[in-house]
Amino acid sequence: MKSMIDSVMAGAFNDFRASLQEKGALCSLKDFRFNEMMIPDYSDDFIQEAYLLRYFPAYLVEYYGIYKELLKAHQFEGPFKVLSIGCGCGLDYYGLELALREKGSSCQDKVFYTGIDKIDWIYRDNFGNDDFEFFQGDILDFEDISKINDNEFDVIIFPKSIGEFEDNEFKKLKDIFKRSQFSKKSLLIVSSVRKQHSAIDTNRMASVLRILENDHGYSCPKAKTEYTYYKKVVGLRTYFYDFVYPQEAYDYLSALHEKCPKYISNSKYCEDDCKGNLNNKRPILNTGHIRYQIFDLTR
Ligand SMILES: C[S@@+](CC[C@H](N)C(=O)[O-])C[C@H]1O[C@@H](n2cnc3c(N)ncnc32)[C@H](O)[C@@H]1O
Repeated sequence: MKSMIDSVMAGAFNDFRASLQEKGALCSLKDFRFNEMMIPDYSDDFIQEAYLLRYFPAYLVEYYGIYKELLKAHQFEGPFKVLSIGCGCGLDYYGLELALREKGSSCQDKVFYTGIDKIDWIYRDNFGNDDFEFFQGDILDFEDISKINDNEFDVIIFPKSIGEFEDNEFKKLKDIFKRSQFSKKSLLIVSSVRKQHSAIDTNRMASVLRILENDHGYSCPKAKTEYTYYKKVVGLRTYFYDFVYPQEAYDYLSALHEKCPKYISNSKYCEDDCKGNLNNKRPILNTGHIRYQIFDLTR
């Protein structure tokens, strides 16, 4: 798994540099940010590469920790079924594979995984699991969550995705949850929220949980807006020692604005906001972005 992670990071870094050569400027990366309610354009490979170089370590360690906790609390008899809404490149699946390998197992042995995303992300990997399905599409086009891929899911995860719906889209998502049929007695809802907009994301998740309680008869004992996070932020390697970020990539991204071909040829920025909006792409290598909860629903 370590070599798998190393190859994703090395691949993303090489592809990122190749994309930069091709584009000839870093301008489009100025919109790769989440402040001012920005949602990046993930359809651009250059943005995906920058996203993975920045967030892959932090989110991988978060999802690994989530699934480790989930597997400790729940001994599934046989294979279990996971639905990941807004799965991206399947980063949560990477985390699940890591957690299972630590227990001497693997997704291939234990998991039916269905990931849905509007965007067909690069670097997705099924780790040899034939029961890994990816649907490129809008979750809002589905009539009934429980019918996706003919599955009745044990785990539904929103990996940093619930806040990325427009308000009117989120309303439609709630309607889908209302009209879906859930036949399982137990259902695990996993919510991992974005640090920058955690209030919006946790409130949205709480409203989905209320639908599952009020319309589907589940009870949710946990407080709906209490999340696990690290008050004292530490390095990711405290939790996953094997994760070593390639130093060359780290240094490159730490002074990214200087790598812009236009900056190099003009010896100055083209626009006032170049420095500010390009200098915040450094990889996240600490626990500051971890914010999640596993809601154990029963009826
Ligand atoms: C912040 S990214 C998270 C990606 C990935 N889960 C991760 O942890 O890196 C949010 C993802 O949600 C997806 N998304 C947003 N709205 C969606 C929708 N209506 N249907 C399917 N996917 C959606 C986006 O395309 C994007 O890949």
